[in-house]
Amino acid sequence: MSRLALVTGGQRGIGAAISEGLLAAGRRVVASYAGNDAAAAEFTARTGIPCVKFDVSDFDACLAAVAKIEAEHGPIDILVNNAGITRDAMMRKQTREMWDAVIDTNLGSCFNMCKAVWEGMIERKFGRIVNIGSINGQAGQLGQVNYAAAKSGIHGFTKALALEGARYSITVNAVAPGYVDTEMVRAVPADVLEKIVARIPRGRLGTAQDIARGVVFLTADEADFITGSTLSINGGQHMY
Ligand code: CAA
Repeated sequence: MSRLALVTGGQRGIGAAISEGLLAAGRRVVASYAGNDAAAAEFTARTGIPCVKFDVSDFDACLAAVAKIEAEHGPIDILVNNAGITRDAMMRKQTREMWDAVIDTNLGSCFNMCKAVWEGMIERKFGRIVNIGSINGQAGQLGQVNYAAAKSGIHGFTKALALEGARYSITVNAVAPGYVDTEMVRAVPADVLEKIVARIPRGRLGTAQDIARGVVFLTADEADFITGSTLSINGGQHMY
């Protein structure tokens, strides 16, 4: 049977392109989502990819969801930790709630989901994990102390877990997207976005498919020797 992939936040934006890219590459795919039932139903109707609703920042919910998915579909071979949110505000206006929401959803989720699949991957001596970081975790960004800290944390988490997984043929890598044409980026004020795009050497926003291509590459069986790496896909905006 073909490999089973779970993509968190996998029915919208970059996550949807990753789910569809993995499906096109011959994997079986399940997508998770947090709350948008209508988008999930539309996505399943269009792609045939089942969507499962749970909160990736909730540890117990992640364990329960993974157990249910594995009971229905079999072991998860590929995990893509893509789910993420922004709560942008300059430090003066950042609140503790905004900080907690972003750290828990973007970084805590990586711990929760990896913990849920880890023992199974060790037992089967195979796993492919890709965590979606960000250029803003590599370079920082105005109004994003919370998001940059979470994404930067993902990059460290990835390297540490890669060391642990190596002996079991579990690879753990990160993809660091730059500015990609999604709802999240369209929420940036137009004048600010204009300044950002002006600094992208490639001269355009990325597409969700630009990012998905990297994830498909890193999750292939043949990508066994690539682990602990960060693949930056950002149109040349930040080289790190
Ligand atoms: N790049 C360049 N300049 C920026 C900037 C940025 N990312 N963010 C803010 N600025 C500038 C503004 O243009 C403004 O400049 P002037 O004073 O010269 O006009 C100044 O900083 C203050 O900004 P605002 O007037 O907008 O201040 P505000 O308090 O009303 O809002 C903010 C602050 C919420 C941070 C808002 O500016 C904003 O949303 N900025 C965008 C932040 C951002 O880039 N978020 C990324 C979202 S996408 C993402 O996170 C995905 C990913 O992984 C890449």
